[in-house]
Amino acid sequence: MSNNRIDAVVSDIVNGIRQALIKHEVTFDEYRAGVMYAVKTGEAGEIPLLLDVFLNSTISDIENAAYGGTEGTIEGPYYLPDAPLISNGGEILTYDDDRNVPMIVRGTVKDLQGRPIAGATVDIWHSTPDGYYGGIHNDIPANYYRGKVLTDSEGRYFVRSTVPVPYKIPDQGPTGALLEMMGGHSWRPAHVHFKVRADGYHTLTTQSYFEQGDYVDDDCCNGVRQVQIKPDVRENGEKVIENDFQLAPDVIASRAA
Ligand SMILES: [Fe+2]
Repeated sequence: MSNNRIDAVVSDIVNGIRQALIKHEVTFDEYRAGVMYAVKTGEAGEIPLLLDVFLNSTISDIENAAYGGTEGTIEGPYYLPDAPLISNGGEILTYDDDRNVPMIVRGTVKDLQGRPIAGATVDIWHSTPDGYYGGIHNDIPANYYRGKVLTDSEGRYFVRSTVPVPYKIPDQGPTGALLEMMGGHSWRPAHVHFKVRADGYHTLTTQSYFEQGDYVDDDCCNGVRQVQIKPDVRENGEKVIENDFQLAPDVIASRAA
């Protein structure tokens, strides 16, 4: 990021904030309360959480417009880069649990011309049946409820796992308090995360949601995109999440030299 670009972006952010302060005639006491809120958020280690709740989905929208391909959305805080490699057709590690609903995750990875991309990495992660993540919560091992699968020569991928559930983002700190004061909540709809990579292509980060699932219409992180709301398809008792991804070249045309 050049100094000119930093100046342009930060100046516009500051001007936008100034306009909001003027519009709402924010008082000095209210301004100081805002400053103290920022201090508390930093002390609680929630600055990434707070910014992601309000702004990550906008950055995703900007990238979607700039690159093209399948519409992406927020990554969320629970991605881990070293998920285990799962064989195509294999199973993501999960615990035996009475609440488990078996799930098939499958689809294809293609380029913008519809040609299959062989050897693309499809990184998949999602919650346990009680809303936690492997490697993050409750001593669940990091290789559970997440895995990477490589597409075959026709760009296909297929893994089995279990259906995730809605969960709350951390809600006991300043971020949750602010959402509540604004009349909102800290719930996310059930979702499956994806990160799809192939050499020469822009990495696609997205999530799939379940049609008519709780909070699909009211996600605290504004992360739901229509294209990723999946119909309730079941095959032999297994829920099916099907995603045919299109990857765009890793170039922003408007900025190419
Ligand atoms: Fe998540």
